[in-house]
Amino acid sequence: DALAPLDRLGRPLRDLRVSVVETCNFRCPYCMPEGATPTNEVLDRAARLDFDEIETAVRGFARLGVGKLRLTGGEPLLRRDLPALVARLAKVPGIEDIALTTNGSLLAGQARALREAGLHRLTVSLDALEPGLFRTLTGHRGELDDVLAGIAAAEAAGFERLKINCVVQRGVNESQVLPLAERFRGTPHVLRFIEYMDVGTCNGWRPGQVVPSRELHAAIHARWPLRPLRPGYRGEVAARHAYVDGAGEIGFVSSVSEPFCGDCHRARLSADGQLYTCLFAARGAPLREHIGRGEEALASHVAGLWRQRADRHSELRADTLRPARRIEMFYIGG
Ligand code: GTP
Ligand code: 5AD
Ligand code: SF4
Ligand code: SF4
Repeated sequence: DALAPLDRLGRPLRDLRVSVVETCNFRCPYCMPEGATPTNEVLDRAARLDFDEIETAVRGFARLGVGKLRLTGGEPLLRRDLPALVARLAKVPGIEDIALTTNGSLLAGQARALREAGLHRLTVSLDALEPGLFRTLTGHRGELDDVLAGIAAAEAAGFERLKINCVVQRGVNESQVLPLAERFRGTPHVLRFIEYMDVGTCNGWRPGQVVPSRELHAAIHARWPLRPLRPGYRGEVAARHAYVDGAGEIGFVSSVSEPFCGDCHRARLSADGQLYTCLFAARGAPLREHIGRGEEALASHVAGLWRQRADRHSELRADTLRPARRIEMFYIGG
């Protein structure tokens, strides 16, 4: 089908992640370290897609088979009037699921409006429960209590099952793993531990900083036995596990130790309208002009790009040199 393109490895396009803003109010050292010079210049506001352009883009991608949308940043809650955008995107034919990934710091004030606008799911990043360590991990910009208040506000607004993402770094926040598990056991929320990846160019990633998921699984399993669950959908990024005692679900994202490119059906759109077909791409394809020609023209252009796609960076990581130029995580939103 001309409108459901497969890439060169036979993968369909199902999932679009839209970065709505390239800035952040945190400076997590693994993502946007203070004072680092990223390869991508910070954009001025005029360079950002406006809501009309984002809606046209989403309509175009929906024509190609995208049913899942995730809004990211930077920190997406910094984008002015975000609930108005959510309300528009929720009405696009074919879009069945709209989620948002946030650092949670501004969530308390926005959770209700986002829910009312039609946002289905929320993912909150949370790397530590110890306030001092939390602050350090945000580059001294974030307060743990704000994020916890954000989570509480999201629950109150009707987001029943949040995902909580924790990036684990060796020697930095391993101490937080069991406390985080304990905190979210017995809640409907799903905590996921993420292996620290070599995305971007400014975090100084070293292999020794990665804590393999199998190690975290063993530590948690020893305390609260786990049993594996089937993936919720084909190509799910996190491996799901249930607590044997019925206290809920937990997950592991093992993009370093067990890459999952084989089923990768994700495209990423940056705030300034570049298409990235891999988190590790050196550069994107500019879409803005094509968006300007309308959803149909955009769809056929993107179909052509998707058919050329052969990315599987995480699988190649072990045996290739990493390109010097890579997209930054805060620019593309993870
Ligand atoms: P749902 O399953 O729809 O809830 O979302 P998700 O788990 O795919 O999204 P989320 O953004 O929470 O992904 C969790 C983490 O997995 C991200 O923060 C990234 O670190 C990592 N990740 C997500 N997608 C990819 C990908 O395509 N490639 C790689 N290498 N890592 C990814
Ligand atoms: N490795 C793994 N996850 C990362 N994130 C940001 N940088 C990295 C990295 N280098 C995560 C954030 C957030 C999501 C958007 O991506 O912590 O949960
Ligand atoms: Fe931290 Fe997320 Fe901001 Fe990156 S985008 S600095 S991971 S809060
Ligand atoms: Fe997809 Fe690239 Fe991540 Fe592999 S490394 S799962 S191709 S985004």
